[in-house]
Amino acid sequence: MNRMRNLFIGFFATFISSWLGLVVAPHLQFGGLKEHLDEDENQYLPPARTGLAERGARVYAANGCVYCHTQQVRPAHQGSDLARGWGARRTVARDYIHDRPHFLGTMRTGPDLANIGHRQNNEGWHHKHLYAPQSVSKGSIMPPFRYLYKTQRIVGAPSADALQLEGPDAPQPGFEIVPTEDAKALVAYLISLNRNYPLPEAPVD
Ligand code: HEC
Repeated sequence: MNRMRNLFIGFFATFISSWLGLVVAPHLQFGGLKEHLDEDENQYLPPARTGLAERGARVYAANGCVYCHTQQVRPAHQGSDLARGWGARRTVARDYIHDRPHFLGTMRTGPDLANIGHRQNNEGWHHKHLYAPQSVSKGSIMPPFRYLYKTQRIVGAPSADALQLEGPDAPQPGFEIVPTEDAKALVAYLISLNRNYPLPEAPVD
């Protein structure tokens, strides 16, 4: 009987200590994090996302971008993220307070995207890249996401948002390739990714 009791206390202590360490401690540390008011610029940081970019975050989730891309910049002593130009500073917990879910990621088959909107803010480039990665990034192994685009017959003048594709990726004469609403939202989301603003706990040198 005594041994049963000890065993039970052992199980209970293991459960409680992991709950304290993995749930309670992080909650006390980060649960109350709020936006920071930057008084010089008179704006709240991190900035809130637009509705279109918010929809884009769901397209990002649905297409598994997180399986190949992280969104976290490590400090200089933990890796070469800063040296590679993936950000002006390391990322911190407050950078993610608007994200549900967040896309920290664990795999880097492709580059980190925490600040892709800063590196590349050209919509046309992103659409071409998503439709045909190798057309803008030679030798890319990123899979194309063609189902986010539709091919349609040109009626009258070509659409303003038609993709400018050449060679084997170009549509048949008389046709054009245009982004769907999901593709537009995804690109709005990618361009919104810019965590280079300064925070008290992560200043920009
Ligand atoms: C199978 C892995 C894989 C998946 C899934 C993937 N990517 Fe990529 N991605 C890559 C690789 C590899 C590169 C680097 C080569 C290139 O630029 O195409 C890259 C590059 C990029 C770049 C350019 C980054 C830069 O610094 O220039 C963007 C933007 C991007 N991916 C967005 C996405 C989005 C959005 C999705 C989901 C719809 C996605 N990727 C899914 C592998 C992947």
